[in-house]
Amino acid sequence: MCGIIGYIGERQASTILLNGLKRLEYRGYDSSGMATILERKKRLSIRKLPGKIRTLEKLLNKKPLTGTLGIAHTRWATHGEPNKLNAHPHLDCKAEIAIVHNGIIENYAELKDELIKEGHKFRSQTDTEVIVHLIEKYHTNLSLKEATRKALTKLKGSFALGIVSCREPDKLIGVRWGSPLVVGVGKNENLLASDIPALLDVTKEMIFLEDEEIAVLTQNNIDITTFSGIPVKRKPLHITWDVSQAERQGFSHFMLKEIHEQPPVLEGLLRQKIKDGEVIFAELEPKREEILAKKSLCIVACGTAYHAGLVGKYLLEELAGLPVAVDLSSEFRYRNPLVDKDTLVIAISQSGETADTLAAVREAKNKGAFILAICNVLGSSLTRESDVVLYTYAGPEISVASTKAYTAQIMVLCLFALYLGRLRSVLCVEAQQKYLNALKKIPQLAEKILKEKDQIRRIAQRHAHFGSFLYLGRNINYPSALEGALKLKEISYIPAEGYAAGEMKHGPIALIDEYRAVVCIAPQSRIRQKMISNIQEIKARRGKIIIITTEGEEEVRGQAKEIICIPSVEELFSPLLIALPLQLLAYYVAIKRGCNVDQPRNLAKSVTVE
Ligand code: F6R
Repeated sequence: MCGIIGYIGERQASTILLNGLKRLEYRGYDSSGMATILERKKRLSIRKLPGKIRTLEKLLNKKPLTGTLGIAHTRWATHGEPNKLNAHPHLDCKAEIAIVHNGIIENYAELKDELIKEGHKFRSQTDTEVIVHLIEKYHTNLSLKEATRKALTKLKGSFALGIVSCREPDKLIGVRWGSPLVVGVGKNENLLASDIPALLDVTKEMIFLEDEEIAVLTQNNIDITTFSGIPVKRKPLHITWDVSQAERQGFSHFMLKEIHEQPPVLEGLLRQKIKDGEVIFAELEPKREEILAKKSLCIVACGTAYHAGLVGKYLLEELAGLPVAVDLSSEFRYRNPLVDKDTLVIAISQSGETADTLAAVREAKNKGAFILAICNVLGSSLTRESDVVLYTYAGPEISVASTKAYTAQIMVLCLFALYLGRLRSVLCVEAQQKYLNALKKIPQLAEKILKEKDQIRRIAQRHAHFGSFLYLGRNINYPSALEGALKLKEISYIPAEGYAAGEMKHGPIALIDEYRAVVCIAPQSRIRQKMISNIQEIKARRGKIIIITTEGEEEVRGQAKEIICIPSVEELFSPLLIALPLQLLAYYVAIKRGCNVDQPRNLAKSVTVE
């Protein structure tokens, strides 16, 4: 995944592009580049190089780019290694047209062969470069927009593009087909970008392009048409995200800041959805009867969102009394899933742009299922393709490792399970009240855990040298074990596995020796004794145990030296609190090992290609 941005207006483009690019760096960070057009001279100037955006910034300080029209890109390599030649923007043979691209061109090899035969000279190994040569081919006698349209008919894949040509230095073209693209509407200036935060410095009025749309931006106008030329009229949406939410605000990393944002995010959801002792989802009201008629639930998601979905299964089965299947989107889309008009499919995604989750949703829709999205990003593809949307309102999540989006997804699932439980009369008023009271305490309890973070840091420092970790949990905290392991491996690169503790004797116990760190998630629970037995089995094999338990669980505490305590909490909601020490443990281990926490190697924030 990559990030693209474009600007046309009356100010110097390079400053605005650079600022926006920094907010997109989470999408890719192995190389970056920028091209601007100096209108007066009708000349295209370009700077690009491997490395992070700060290296581009240094280069621009030494060799500034001028011009009020430009495009820029931050890359996450798919075709061709991250070097200067493969960095975007890419140019045509005469260096008159520049493009930036996010996504993938599946048929680039055959197109490249044809274009080479026709005399086009390629400079990079990227799939992207074929697009600019195709546009060049048609731009000889067609306008930039028409040449782009013609080029699009040849391309297979998914992409978002930003295009400029010095033969038409008053236009910035944006194209969307399968990868996100947002148009920012300013005063005497307009922009486009892969994601909202990149535009917030300039405007909060945004138009979300849909697939198969082309936008032609001039300084004072935005003209959107479909690929086939049908005009599109769409009003801008006002984005309420604050620009400060996209800054680190004194925290050393976005991940740490986002971990600390969890109490207010959870509090905000509770305040918004609980009215007069009831869970109210006004957005579901028009579809209430349809939702009530569903006989089963199926959750689809990827990565951390999938783990939230697994927690959702326990919540929905317990509180709403409905059978729930949970599937990885990438698996769901390629089998013949048994969903139909009686199934409510819940698609969970922070970004709303994950390719596999979108494909799973399309598959489920084809089979007649009703789609409920749990999503963080307003206007994202998932929100447009679903029948109803429950937003997580977590604000922009910049760090690649998902933290606040995860607990916000679980909180929405808690509230939805309680809502459905009441609707289906599985829960009586008193039971719902009891659960709501427990849920309302969560933000305050989460705050308490954050205050104790130094103790978690010390434990992390004592264990950062371990070569591998095992995370064990049971019941509703089995998904917590999976999520804890994912957090650790993605940011510290330590091999880590999450397992259901009951599975120990079926294989993983063979791994245990004094070189293995084992995180045992053992909060107050009706199956606490089972977890204690697992811990003893690990102790007997000299595994290095870290226990996460609840205050007052003296018997569990007695089992090991390294103890992290969370406050007492209703068992069903414990994953909301357990998530915090797991996130902090991973964070501090990664810091101790000198890893780049916010931008882990090989990863990108949202996976818009398969
Ligand atoms: C891990 C992480 C990923 C995402 C996954 C799905 O920290 O962030 O595993 O959870 O790529 O992304 P969304 O939620 O945007 O669909």
